[in-house]
Amino acid sequence: MKYIVANWKAHFNTTEMHNWLHTFSGLPLNKCGQNVEIILCPPLPFLSLVSDALYDPMIKVGVQNVSHFEQGTHTGEVTADMLDGVVDYAIIGHSERRLEYHETNEMIEKKCESALNAHIQPILCIRGKDDVIFEHVHFVAYEPIEAIGSGNNMSIEEVIAVKKTLNLSPDQNFIYGGSVKAENASEYLLSDEIDGVLVGGSTLDPHELFAIALSART
Ligand code: PGA
Repeated sequence: MKYIVANWKAHFNTTEMHNWLHTFSGLPLNKCGQNVEIILCPPLPFLSLVSDALYDPMIKVGVQNVSHFEQGTHTGEVTADMLDGVVDYAIIGHSERRLEYHETNEMIEKKCESALNAHIQPILCIRGKDDVIFEHVHFVAYEPIEAIGSGNNMSIEEVIAVKKTLNLSPDQNFIYGGSVKAENASEYLLSDEIDGVLVGGSTLDPHELFAIALSART
């Protein structure tokens, strides 16, 4: 299976979200083949809009974060157990959150544990081998900071070289993220070493996401 994670970050208003879904649901997703799973990670207010609009077994829905707290007096937080049954995946530890919200490895470990307890698969983002990889996590997304949003995707050779330093277990999927677009996605998606891509900017265009998914066809 190849996983394509669309991370929309803090983009879209309601009208734009509707337009995106309208366009995407008109595309022939069946052309992508059987071995592709697309994981859409919208901003929280659009979760149900996205799940309701796209009923296709190859599409899953994820969140971009969960709280490191359990339910309680934490104004503004969304805990993983609130999302149990609502989403299948959660992006956790994205470098933007590590930087802007000072997320530590300890907080990230709690988020991963809470997600797993709520039957949600964490997609743990790491910036390199110095970020901790927790053993029960099945999806590890390597996202070198200099490649994110810069247009400078890391070469497949370099990505594989980093993967070899991570000592992943056989049941951990390895995903690459950083300036992936339709033009370069097949480099990663056709490699046996890479189980998927985590894509930000390019996925704001539904045609571009579709083209990325098509490039995973074998
Ligand atoms: P990008 O973002 O595809 O826009 O580089 C990737 C990410 O930050 O997840």
